[in-house]
Amino acid sequence: MSQLHIIDHPMIRHKLTIMRDRNTGSKDFRELLNEISLLMGYEVTRDLPLEDVEIETPLCRMTAQKVSGRKLAIVPILRAGLGMVDGLRTLVPVAKVGHIGLYRDENTHQPVVYYCKLPEDIGRRLVIITDPMLATGGSACDAIDMLKEKGCTNIRLMCLVAAPDGVERVMSAHPDVDIYVASVDDHLNSDAYIVPGLGDAGDRIFGTK
Ligand code: PRP
Ligand code: URA
Repeated sequence: MSQLHIIDHPMIRHKLTIMRDRNTGSKDFRELLNEISLLMGYEVTRDLPLEDVEIETPLCRMTAQKVSGRKLAIVPILRAGLGMVDGLRTLVPVAKVGHIGLYRDENTHQPVVYYCKLPEDIGRRLVIITDPMLATGGSACDAIDMLKEKGCTNIRLMCLVAAPDGVERVMSAHPDVDIYVASVDDHLNSDAYIVPGLGDAGDRIFGTK
């Protein structure tokens, strides 16, 4: 059974409050998303395996530890997921980055695929999907399906704000995928927007409205 991890550290809550505010402009919104992504990254990567390495400090030899095992890939769902990549990459600079392009049809709210470019060895990597918004869960479920078709068996989903509907849908369709969010909000409105939410994440990141 997958787990829902709510990462509600005070600094994340504080930054998310500023992001939610309609008066926060695109530049601040982007910077805050970047900062929160780095902070959430600590929890998403908390259980990465370590291996012993022998090193020499200026004083003596010692056995220390480095991250080992399965390598990582970050896969943003375009567009808004791009806003979470740099924060994670600050934490794991060697991570490869794949891209899945999906948009929600305005009327049906169904996701439509328009792009997919993934690292060749994606099936052997731990994959962290990024998307600030988990609303109906349709986009996340389609992205996970696409990754599983490419052989991925170790997938995590990292979002900023989720609706209960989206969490339930991903958990029941993909019980092997853990979900990491900063907040589970109250509900979806009739346009399938998260309430209270923060509006259209893509538009606020890229200043398109
Ligand atoms: C938003 C968001 C998610 C999706 C969430 O993207 O970034 O990908 O909607 O909704 P769902 O859970 O109901 O599928 P959008 O379709 O607005 O595209 P954009 O990022 O290009 O603006
Ligand atoms: N996509 C967004 O950007 N915001 C929502 O609230 C729902 C979907």
